Amino acid sequence: MCKKHIIITGGNSGIGFQAALQASFNENCLVTIICRNKERAEKACDDILKAGGRHIDYITADLSNMQSVKDAVNTYKNRYKTLDVLINNAADFDITNKTRNITADGFETQFAVNVVSPYLLSCLFKDYLANSLNGKIINISSKGLCLFPFIELDFSNLNGEKYYKPAYTYYQNKLALLLFSKYLSDKQTNIKIQAVRVTKAYILFI
Ligand SMILES: NC(=O)c1ccc[n+]([C@@H]2O[C@H](COP(=O)([O-])OP(=O)(O)OC[C@H]3O[C@@H](n4cnc5c(N)ncnc54)[C@H](OP(=O)(O)O)[C@@H]3O)[C@@H](O)[C@H]2O)c1
Repeated sequence: MCKKHIIITGGNSGIGFQAALQASFNENCLVTIICRNKERAEKACDDILKAGGRHIDYITADLSNMQSVKDAVNTYKNRYKTLDVLINNAADFDITNKTRNITADGFETQFAVNVVSPYLLSCLFKDYLANSLNGKIINISSKGLCLFPFIELDFSNLNGEKYYKPAYTYYQNKLALLLFSKYLSDKQTNIKIQAVRVTKAYILFI
């Protein structure tokens, strides 16, 4: 039976963890979680294996740092030769952090994690996903966007240079990710693009 290989960013907690857990119960799925903290990643893998999960491993990466993202992709490609599903799940929505922080790459941190890293991962895995019979990118969106149907993306403030508040930035980031998903989808390649609002059943999309 053909194995389906899935990457889930931020798979050590919350929704990403639950998605990794459910997918790893399927004997035909191989799951790799990308996490920033080695201990939390190892604990998540241990918990999944103890719960009866079959194939799970991890790669560490700080998704606010684009060199770290590239290193993670290289690690994955040295380990595996296929990828079927990339789930861009990790997100920075720490609204207690009120100060705008700029990363070494020159990106505002939330924008880096929530928009730039999914973009970079999608680009760097395009070759693997295109070679899959069912290549898919799933970008995790937010129900909050439904509450603000007239929200517009401020292209002049993507990096929070004019105005920064973490909650506002988070929804701007989610809107940017949604538009990016639409842009990729319109290209009509053989890679299927989905932007999903989180529900308990979102793993069904895989
Ligand atoms: N929970 C909700 O009500 C809700 C609603 C709508 C949408 N969503 C979306 O669902 C997705 C998952 O959210 P969740 O509720 O499961 O949150 P969560 O438990 O806080 O998970 C977020 C994950 O992202 C990881 N992460 C954050 N910054 C990172 C970085 N710089 N590098 C690598 N990993 C990083 C976190 O790692 P650490 O554990 O190391 O911090 C964590 O694993 C997000 O895209 C979120 O926007 C959630």
